[in-house]
Amino acid sequence: MAVDLLLGLQWGDEGKGKIVDVLTSKYDIIARFQGGPNAGHTLEFDGQKHVLHTIPSGIFHDETINLVGNGVVIDPVIFKKELDNLSKNNIDYLSKLLISRKAHLILPTHRLLDAASEASKGKAKIGSTLKGIGPTYMDKTGRNGIRVGDLELDNWKEKYRTLSDKHEKIIKFYDVDVQYDLAELEKEFFDAVKTLKSLTFIDSEAYLHAAQKEGKTILAEGAQGSLLDIDFGTYPFVTSSTTTAAGACTGLGVAPNKIKEAYGIFKAYTTRVGSGPFPTELFDEDGETMGRVGNEFGATTGRARRCGWLDLVALKYAVQVNGITQLIMMKGDVLSGFKTLKVCTAYNYKGKEIYHLPYNIEAENVTPIYTEIKGWAADLTGMTKADELPKEFNEYVEFLEKELEIPIKVVSVGPDRTQTIER
Ligand code: IMP
Repeated sequence: MAVDLLLGLQWGDEGKGKIVDVLTSKYDIIARFQGGPNAGHTLEFDGQKHVLHTIPSGIFHDETINLVGNGVVIDPVIFKKELDNLSKNNIDYLSKLLISRKAHLILPTHRLLDAASEASKGKAKIGSTLKGIGPTYMDKTGRNGIRVGDLELDNWKEKYRTLSDKHEKIIKFYDVDVQYDLAELEKEFFDAVKTLKSLTFIDSEAYLHAAQKEGKTILAEGAQGSLLDIDFGTYPFVTSSTTTAAGACTGLGVAPNKIKEAYGIFKAYTTRVGSGPFPTELFDEDGETMGRVGNEFGATTGRARRCGWLDLVALKYAVQVNGITQLIMMKGDVLSGFKTLKVCTAYNYKGKEIYHLPYNIEAENVTPIYTEIKGWAADLTGMTKADELPKEFNEYVEFLEKELEIPIKVVSVGPDRTQTIER
């Protein structure tokens, strides 16, 4: 069977966790292919909220296999906390959680390196989640990394020590104030590695090839969003992995011609956490309302997210880069009560009107050009059917569909599983 993708089209936090959870009943396998504990995927059902960082969002379904692919970076300490939370909720994860031997490990010193790197940048800092993501991918591409499969070797601790010692030298080189007690961090780390080793490690690309041959259905779950992609995002204010469709090929070993549906998920407005350009950002009451009503606080760091109107120029770019076939619009309910909605349909770029995402979208080069659309007053959160949705809401959705040339098949009107409407 073919592989489907679910990808965030903005700067992350689009609501991927919720939608994967909703879609999971259609799939045999849910596979994460990039990122790591910088992600925070939130799922709500039966009156309870669950946040996952590295574990795929299909874990709450009994029949689904959840695979952490080779493109993911794993922090054993955070992973263990996620497992402990699952145990508390009586989720038997052992039989349905598989880890690729080729996934790289985040060491305690990777996190310290992240902190040192950010501190050394001063005002130019990226606003990293400080989970050690960048340094771990640097060691991967630098061919120094430690992989999950190494944990099965007798000498992995020697490899660990060599790398950790090297990291300590680099931390000193940064010459910034990073306080740490490595012995303490390592105690926690080695303890968590023991837990990780109790899970099933596999050669995941072979596993997925066999699964495809057997006709199993597979959903690749993206993390972060297209505008945080290492190549196509707002560099250098990006994460260190390929968050776009191509990342599913490299992060799982899935061939491009095996990909069928690419679901693109976006919020009805835009948010961003951390530094970097954001043309439609609002600094007024409207932005404050979006943040408050949308509860726009990071699931991983708790940081307040920056909010703004929907940016169709950026969204179109993400649709193109990913080859999106179906769209899912989240948080439509948050826009209830705005008399007029604005959608950025072009940029004024150095005095010229343009319709594509240019190399540089810093505020000094780009000002958004908006189209105004009538808002709606009704509360959407209790609605369960498409024909209950207000006329103005449908007009907003139809406008976006026309601009993006892709159908919006699902709209989400609240955080719970049940607050999801198919169109
Ligand atoms: P890092 O991936 O932790 O190094 O963070 C790099 C940038 O990506 C920062 O601006 C983070 O705020 C942002 N970022 C990383 N992961 C996520 C996410 O899951 N959601 C939203 N932003 C993220």
